[in-house]
Amino acid sequence: MKKLETRRDIEDLVNFFYDRVQNDETIGFFFNDVAKVDWKLHLPKMYAFWETLLFGQISYKGNPMAAHFPVNAEVAMEKFHFEHWLKLWVETVETHFTGEIADLAIYKARNIANLMAHKMEVARRLK
Ligand code: HEM
Repeated sequence: MKKLETRRDIEDLVNFFYDRVQNDETIGFFFNDVAKVDWKLHLPKMYAFWETLLFGQISYKGNPMAAHFPVNAEVAMEKFHFEHWLKLWVETVETHFTGEIADLAIYKARNIANLMAHKMEVARRLK
């Protein structure tokens, strides 16, 4: 199986992942119906995000947490949504890639997903 090692690999991984997310019954609607994401803009942002996290290339300069609060304010983003998001991510990584960076992609996603789930829950409580 292929090692996750280039920018092109990240683009492939992100494309595979959001192909699944877009058509997913549990979380697809957040992207399609709640945020009405423009995929032509979202995907390049996600390439940059993962390139920054995994290769230390500082190509992403956004605030990933902040982007989710407005979505969460419209429809609660709950723990089980994040667990499902993570399941899709882990399956996608493991289907296509192997090696240290692939492991890191799973490790970092898990940490951020847990933190994000917590922050969304707190934000709802403070509403
Ligand atoms: C249930 C789980 C999740 C859902 C439904 C979700 C949904 C979304 C949506 C709808 C947007 C677009 C917001 C907009 O442009 O209006 C977005 C942006 C983004 N998401 Fe998520 N997300 C989830 C989990 C995660 C996780 C775990 C990560 C990180 C590992 C992540 C990273 C990002 C980043 C980097 C952006 C772009 C932020 C920016 O505009 O700079 N998301 N997400």
